[in-house]
Amino acid sequence: MSKDTSIIIFDTTLRDGEQSPGASMNIEEKLRIAHQLEKLNVDVIEAGFPIASEGDFEAVKKVAQTIRGPQIAGLCRANDKDIDRAWEALQYAGERGRIHTFLATSDIHMKYKLKMSEEQVIETAVKAVRRAAGYTPNIEFSAEDAVRTRLPFLATVVEAVIDAGARTVNIPDTVGYAIPSEFAEIIRYLKQNVPNIDKAVLSVHCHNDLGLAVANSLAAVQAGAQQVECTINGIGERAGNCSLEEVVMALRTRQDILRFSTGIVTEHIYAASKLLSTVTGIVVQPNKAIVGANAFAHEAGIHQHGVLMEKSTYEIMTPESIGLTQNKLVLGKHSGRHAFVDRLKELGYDLSKEDIERAFVRFKALADQKKEIFDEDLDAIVADEIIRVPERFSLRQMNVSSGSFATPTATVELEVDGKIKKIAAMGDGPVDATFKAIKKLTKSQARLLQFSVGAITGGTDAQGECTVRLLENGREALGQGADSDIIVASAKAYINALNKMASVVERTRIHL
Ligand code: KIV
Ligand code: ZN
Repeated sequence: MSKDTSIIIFDTTLRDGEQSPGASMNIEEKLRIAHQLEKLNVDVIEAGFPIASEGDFEAVKKVAQTIRGPQIAGLCRANDKDIDRAWEALQYAGERGRIHTFLATSDIHMKYKLKMSEEQVIETAVKAVRRAAGYTPNIEFSAEDAVRTRLPFLATVVEAVIDAGARTVNIPDTVGYAIPSEFAEIIRYLKQNVPNIDKAVLSVHCHNDLGLAVANSLAAVQAGAQQVECTINGIGERAGNCSLEEVVMALRTRQDILRFSTGIVTEHIYAASKLLSTVTGIVVQPNKAIVGANAFAHEAGIHQHGVLMEKSTYEIMTPESIGLTQNKLVLGKHSGRHAFVDRLKELGYDLSKEDIERAFVRFKALADQKKEIFDEDLDAIVADEIIRVPERFSLRQMNVSSGSFATPTATVELEVDGKIKKIAAMGDGPVDATFKAIKKLTKSQARLLQFSVGAITGGTDAQGECTVRLLENGREALGQGADSDIIVASAKAYINALNKMASVVERTRIHL
């Protein structure tokens, strides 16, 4: 393989990312994210784990049928049934379909999980790659827990799978254990000790348990890795994966030292981050690098002064380079449809005519209550009106009475499976009463794990945004709701979580 300075970006938001607690997505949501990844111009989209469930299978198939441009990967264990099922979903992507098969190689995994000898692992891995080669030459093999694998054995496995036809060999730090110098050493070792290494792309897949996923990935790239596996906002199993936006912006900002680039259209990064937060309900911490709310905010007077004089005094990259526009105050009561649509486009929302219509009606209603509409308000409207799971339950109307003399009481009217139902309930507070009424109407047994309220923008007329996390039958769902009435926002968030719970297809738990 020739020395190329372009790093392949393999996005696994829809597979490893979806393994974050509460991040389950339905097919429509996965497709939305996949379209945004297409805009970002990632090289590979890992769309799911087809054998894990009917829902995963359908999602991978749909992404393979719909997305043009990036390659589409599907994960499978190293056995015939998984591989066959993966290709059944991936075949629609033609030669862009990638079978990604994996098998653990560390002593600890082989002894306790696989109960296999080294010879059996090599044999199984080679057999899996050969099986996949019956479908496509586009095969990736991952040596799970590679970082804790004996290096000579890892080199033997890598050589064997390349010989069997793997075009990409991935070196995962499955448990996020490596430190950068050590990880770079592993990559260098493989480059020097695997005779056929030039016949395959060497990839890395780092988890963030020690907060080192991005640092490890960059160290690996400097040592010769050609593909980085990552997720938007760094979501993923446990502490997450290497964050796409961080690794890509590091490569771009420090090209002077790193000397590598990517094909990512970085101007779509911010919209991708926001879309993922909206869809999953997992918000990024304010101080998160690149996409956090404070990433480009200058608080100290001396910094503000410096930036006003010359941006580069305190800014190593521009907000525009990730698609963050400075114009935060956008629209008001008198703004027309044109301005509204333009602004939505600038924010990265490509909506259908009907969706625009629904969002515009909601915008006008909000503009009647609120003088100034900010970008964040538009995000909330789109999240609330458009990016919604199919609704089994929807809020028709509600009324709440509370105060220091009265027992808080909520009367809630819902549409449940097409039928109107109404009930009143009392509670310890207005939100408690509202949730109790919704639980009765929906017959839900869900336990409330988390409830938080925030204001989307400043001012007493700001919209309130609520997040609700529910647990039922071992599954978690996050719901969000926005409204200028905080109790209504809470009800919407609760109902949204119930709808998500109902819409996400049960997945077979496959432990990686
Ligand atoms: O972390 C891991 O090892 C994985 C592999 C399946 C690539 O996600
Ligand atoms: Zn992983």
